[in-house]
Amino acid sequence: MSRARASGAPEAPQVLGGKLPRIDGPLKVSGRAVYTSDVSLAGMLYAVPVRSTIASGRVVSIDASAARKLPGVRAVYYRGNLKSFFRSAPAQGFSGIIEEKRPPFEDDVVRYYGQYIAVAVAQTIEQARGAAAAVRVRYAADAHNVEPHLATERPLDTESQRGDPDTAFQSAPVKVDQTYVTPTEVHNPIELHATVAAWDGDRVTLYETSQAIMNHRDVLYQMLGVPKENVRVVSHFLGSGFGGKLWPWTHSILAAGVAREIGAPVKLVVTRQSMFEAVGHRPLTQQRFRIGAGRDGKLVSLQQDYLNQTSILDDYKEDCGESTPFMYSVPNLRVASALVRRNIGTPTAMRGPGAVPGLFAMESAMDELAIALNMDPIELRRRNEPQLDESSKLPFSSRHVVECMQVGAEKFGWARRDPRVGSMKRDGLTIGWGMAACSWGAMRSDAQASVEIDRDGTATVRTATQDIGTGTYTVLALVVAEATGIPIEKIDVRLGDTTLPPGPISGGSWVTASVIPAASHAARAAVRALLTMATSGQNAPFKGVKPDDLQLGNGRVSRKSDPSSGVPLSDVLARANVRAAVGDGQSPSTFGGEESQKYSLHSFGAQFAEVTWQPETARLRVSRFVSVIDAGRMINPKPARNQIEGAVVMGIGMALFEEARYDKRYGAPINSNLADYIMSTNADAPAIDVTFLDHPDKVLNELGARGVGEIGLAGTAAAITAAVYHATGVRVRELPVRIEDLL
Ligand code: MOS
Repeated sequence: MSRARASGAPEAPQVLGGKLPRIDGPLKVSGRAVYTSDVSLAGMLYAVPVRSTIASGRVVSIDASAARKLPGVRAVYYRGNLKSFFRSAPAQGFSGIIEEKRPPFEDDVVRYYGQYIAVAVAQTIEQARGAAAAVRVRYAADAHNVEPHLATERPLDTESQRGDPDTAFQSAPVKVDQTYVTPTEVHNPIELHATVAAWDGDRVTLYETSQAIMNHRDVLYQMLGVPKENVRVVSHFLGSGFGGKLWPWTHSILAAGVAREIGAPVKLVVTRQSMFEAVGHRPLTQQRFRIGAGRDGKLVSLQQDYLNQTSILDDYKEDCGESTPFMYSVPNLRVASALVRRNIGTPTAMRGPGAVPGLFAMESAMDELAIALNMDPIELRRRNEPQLDESSKLPFSSRHVVECMQVGAEKFGWARRDPRVGSMKRDGLTIGWGMAACSWGAMRSDAQASVEIDRDGTATVRTATQDIGTGTYTVLALVVAEATGIPIEKIDVRLGDTTLPPGPISGGSWVTASVIPAASHAARAAVRALLTMATSGQNAPFKGVKPDDLQLGNGRVSRKSDPSSGVPLSDVLARANVRAAVGDGQSPSTFGGEESQKYSLHSFGAQFAEVTWQPETARLRVSRFVSVIDAGRMINPKPARNQIEGAVVMGIGMALFEEARYDKRYGAPINSNLADYIMSTNADAPAIDVTFLDHPDKVLNELGARGVGEIGLAGTAAAITAAVYHATGVRVRELPVRIEDLL
């Protein structure tokens, strides 16, 4: 079972709000952390899928005779010679979610390039690769559609409406009406998706790259047609996921099915190329924003009409209207959307799904409005700061957008900004400054945890969530340390296994907010059990004392009135003949819960970007970035800061580099490798100044913590393109910014 424990002593007695490095760090840098593709089992075989080389049509025939004769090849499976899979029943809550709902090989229709149509199994990965390449496939190809320009005949579906936005827009004295495009983006975590499936009779253990092991189990047992309790999913360490590993993909089902058929453990590691095809992406979006305002900058009408591409069979929607209805005060508003189908793999959530492309468009439109009004963009936003969520009519649990902008402006030196295009120079370079506001939902999902306090003075906390790499092991250790007084280095954290008490998905920036109540309740329950043992029972050291008058600290149970005295907790347990004091805790979801009916729950922020532009050499750089985030109380500011920094680096990629393109001739993602799909590197990352406002949000949990995994990406690209406009006078509305746009 997975465990991560701090090796050094914490630097200070202060537990929360300190700067504890990730406790799993030493395991990772020393190579002892076992990732899914590191799992090696006796007799394990390797599976390599055969990928469709058309984007639309039918498989006419598959000839595996040559492949089967190759050395080490054990089998080639395809539709007809592999036991078929069931579909997963419609999802309920956060259980049973799968984006690509059609199981592998269900029919002979090809709907996207790279769809798995067969799988080769061999003794080594090289042999399996060779066999997959030797499978001969005949297709009946149809015309495919991967056209990036989106259009639809049918009316859009209204998502949110108030007032009369059309009339208000028509009569508004100042208007912006523009369309913004964000391209297909691919998650590209460095760790490839992988599955190792091992059956024991009709029970299967799946080692997975999963951001949601409980859901993975809930989908896989249904698709494999075995009892729920027969599927165990393990995911101890993740080399990130960015949403691409939230829900199961076809390779996992295929690996499990093949392992069952062949009677041996099977490893399937998705290739980088396939990660552009068959494990989701952020779909292309096309958003028209119409904003009408008075000459005082007060918004009178806000309309967002957007389309996103999706696959042929599935209905993934990029929820670009996520923040539009509540971000600004405006009496007349409409958000409407539609899906446009293309021959592409099914899209999925990617870091800040919906809000990130949505805020690129809305914050760009707000910047354009500020320019039309000849008004400072911070002042424009300040004038439209809402008093409550005007769509739900609920108060915000905690909203400090104006303070984020003020603090950011001060840190950035915004007061020195000359708004005239191209007017600011430094060292022979033209400087551009831009800003954007941002938000991301703050929610909590169901979580359970258990805590044991052992005789040796250690504690173990268990919950079936997983650490995507953000510091979940560490946060759990901190919460238990805070609740028990047991030092961090004596706390063992066990995650990433469906045999543990059900924990939350690593998504939505929910984990921290979700696990805190469960883990701290469990820890307090374990302490209470220990104090009860200390006061009752034949050999109890504090017989007759009320448990409430005792405390646990420094490994000793003592009277609150006399903390210097006391009995080692090992004695308390030994005298009671109990191995460990145990406690369980749980916290209910805010989805549909009491809190979400009383409050509008979000994190907020303000992003400030500086770019330098050198027209002589066509060189554009992001040279400075200030991010101010209002996300409640930071439980562990160091990894929290890392999250914002990483998201800003990703935002630079979104603004300037990232884009997956489909080849019109073949329908294939054409830049499906890390050389041609450009992402930010260290050389592209400037100094990033991150500030957290400290306004604990006690609506979400007793510690007032929200999550920070996604918000750093929200608004970032809009701040950068605003800075690009300020430097160059060119407004880029279709990401990424290309040098040729600026010439
Ligand atoms: Mo996140 S896109 O919810 O992993």
